[in-house]
Amino acid sequence: MGDVRSFYGRWARLYDWLATLPGVRSWRRAAASDLDLAAGQTVVEMGCGTGANLPHLRSAVGSEGRVLGLDVTRAMLDRARGRGDADLLRGDATRPPLQSGVDGLLGTFVVGMFADPRSVVDEWCTLVGPGHRVALLHFTRSRRAWARPIDACYRAFVWASSTDKRQRDVADSHDRRVEEAYRRLAERTADYRERRLAGGYLRLASGRVE
Ligand SMILES: C[S@@+](CC[C@H](N)C(=O)[O-])C[C@H]1O[C@@H](n2cnc3c(N)ncnc32)[C@H](O)[C@@H]1O
Repeated sequence: MGDVRSFYGRWARLYDWLATLPGVRSWRRAAASDLDLAAGQTVVEMGCGTGANLPHLRSAVGSEGRVLGLDVTRAMLDRARGRGDADLLRGDATRPPLQSGVDGLLGTFVVGMFADPRSVVDEWCTLVGPGHRVALLHFTRSRRAWARPIDACYRAFVWASSTDKRQRDVADSHDRRVEEAYRRLAERTADYRERRLAGGYLRLASGRVE
């Protein structure tokens, strides 16, 4: 956890610039929209970072709804302040300090960072409860030859932000954890749906907890 905080603490400004580029907005809007939220509901984003999703979540629940952003890195939360009129909490998304009353939950570019993503997805599904949706958005590697430079950047980013750089292939194990999280979401939800965005580089999945 210390590595994560120090990496994102150091790079919060650059991350925020990347996370809020105009081209990125449509993916974030799509992720918020897949939660099927209604006005007045409560939505939480786990690992909200600099808050790039929060305005989209606010649009989905309206001014009378509640938007909560949880993250472990103070510098990221500092940049999230003011976005989407959200309540920001510093805490661990693998053991969220929340009880119930959550109508939708979003995790973007975060599940690959958890040692046990299956149990985290379980925890998140329990938190939202039956009838509510959980959505995940994550980068996925392409095996196409022309995509090699993008994949190399991705591997470097995953390695730099990793908590365990001793692993032989950090990016492969990150990918495995992402896969586990998506598989668990499919198992735990009814009407699981998944689609690719950004030329196939992003996986957006969501499901209604049973
Ligand atoms: C790649 S950034 C994604 C930020 C944001 N979701 C986005 O889409 O731009 C990953 C974020 O997850 C946070 N994070 C990593 N592990 C966490 C944990 N266990 N609990 C809460 N936040 C965590 C990091 O501090 C960082 O802000």
